[in-house]
Amino acid sequence: MNKNKQVFEAVIFDLDGVLADTAHFHFLAWQHLAQTQGIAFDEVFNERLKGIDRMASLELILSQSNRVYSQQEKIELAREKNQHYLQFTGTITPADLLPGARDALNLVRAAGLKTGLASVSKNAFFILEKLGIRDCFDDVIDAALLTHTKPHPEIFLTSASHLGVAPAACIGVEDSLAGISSIKSAGMFAIGIGSPTVLTFADHVIPDLRHFMLSTYALN
Ligand code: BG6
Ligand code: MG
Repeated sequence: MNKNKQVFEAVIFDLDGVLADTAHFHFLAWQHLAQTQGIAFDEVFNERLKGIDRMASLELILSQSNRVYSQQEKIELAREKNQHYLQFTGTITPADLLPGARDALNLVRAAGLKTGLASVSKNAFFILEKLGIRDCFDDVIDAALLTHTKPHPEIFLTSASHLGVAPAACIGVEDSLAGISSIKSAGMFAIGIGSPTVLTFADHVIPDLRHFMLSTYALN
């Protein structure tokens, strides 16, 4: 056996920005919210929100304002943002899967590995149904049951536990800095989707899932 290569038993995917371009819809909805509050917001700031749950993202945006928001106001703003997001995503179909996404999912299954979905989005089940890929996963984390958002490792550790696979035998696939940190804190191999200059903690970075090659990591 080649000792330099680890045998993996599961691949755990993030959703937004990895399997579908929903990260852009989150961006547009947050940008609109920031505008209504007179808060500056751009792609650079948005990078900090990727992988962060709804309320924590809202807190980060509102921390840029001088105004103090009541809990009730925050709940209302989060609700409005989600309404906006649901409008953007309402017309999603399987054609909106990002290039390489379905092939990557098929590849993992064909190789006999388990598939997990680890998204902190409370809309994940809805989006998976619209994309027609719910059945591609052995386990989908219900974000409503999580205590912590990424970069905490809870979500990836819970996914590995549901799949019955040791964290060290899992590959995590993520487009966000918070997500890569979550994967690494969970003790997994991290594949970043995006730019190596942004996802500096990832073990391997590819521009998109068309470049996903399991054999690179999983052969023994
Ligand atoms: C993550 C996204 O997957 O889900 C974040 O990267 C988003 O941008 C978060 O805020 C929460 O999503 P939702 O759908 O529960 O508001
Ligand atoms: Mg993401």
